[in-house]
Amino acid sequence: MKKCFRSIFRDVRVLKNSLKVGVFDSGIGGLTVLRNALMEFPFGIDFFYFADTARVPYGSKPVATIRRYVHEIFEFFYSIGIDVIVTACNTSDSILTQKEKESLPVPYFSIIDPAVRSIGEIAPANSSVSIIATSNTVKRSLYLRRLFRYDTLSEITQKACPLFVPIIEEGIWEGDMVEAVVHYYLADLGNQRPDFLVLGCTHYPFIRGAIEKSLPPTTRIIDPADFIVLDMKRQLHPSSKEDSTVEYFVSGDTGFFQDVLKRYFGMPGVVKQVDLSRDNIVVRG
Ligand code: DGL
Repeated sequence: MKKCFRSIFRDVRVLKNSLKVGVFDSGIGGLTVLRNALMEFPFGIDFFYFADTARVPYGSKPVATIRRYVHEIFEFFYSIGIDVIVTACNTSDSILTQKEKESLPVPYFSIIDPAVRSIGEIAPANSSVSIIATSNTVKRSLYLRRLFRYDTLSEITQKACPLFVPIIEEGIWEGDMVEAVVHYYLADLGNQRPDFLVLGCTHYPFIRGAIEKSLPPTTRIIDPADFIVLDMKRQLHPSSKEDSTVEYFVSGDTGFFQDVLKRYFGMPGVVKQVDLSRDNIVVRG
């Protein structure tokens, strides 16, 4: 079974009509990655977006629990015949080991690696970089460890902002409350004036306006969603000229997710509920 997925991927350029790409996150944050992916791939891909909305946030739960959740999502993806997995979750990407990623039966796109490479390529000598992310991403320090390899970076710091995700999942994306919470976490960073700030959680672009306001204009914001899509562009070559499609699967409430889709994309989508905690995965809708 595992080999079969691999060989399908190698031949995918010529054999398949539409490529099946599974994109996942703990919640709505990964939509920021999906949006970019849809812009880059208007044709030839059937996207399957999984949001673990019943179990969000991932950022502050035990690592072993998140690892189990992520493997349940992968099993679900295999059950629907996914060709490629795109992680739209920095926390999951931080928690999975390199070995785990490489031994998956389908190719896996990391969100952290392409962002790190791009910073390494563009940062001039003596640059400072700050990463804001969930508590788990900060604890695992994958960004930090990877960025340390670049001599041009003289200072690398990271900061956990655990209240950002609950606020964003609550649908609060701007206004006084967002600004107060952003100020609470980022006031110090604004004084440090880093050259680059990495939005190390896919939820954070939802409050990018408030984050930008709290930083000096000289700080360049890096959204890893921009770079994972470049990686996909380099490696995925769908042959079909059919319009790309998206189907959404959520572990929580479908109505809530529909409302988010209407607000974020300006249109509803096909949203189904999935219960991953059972032995037999049950899809409703
Ligand atoms: N959006 C995810 C990330 O990029 C997870 C956030 C969370 O559930 O805490 O890390």
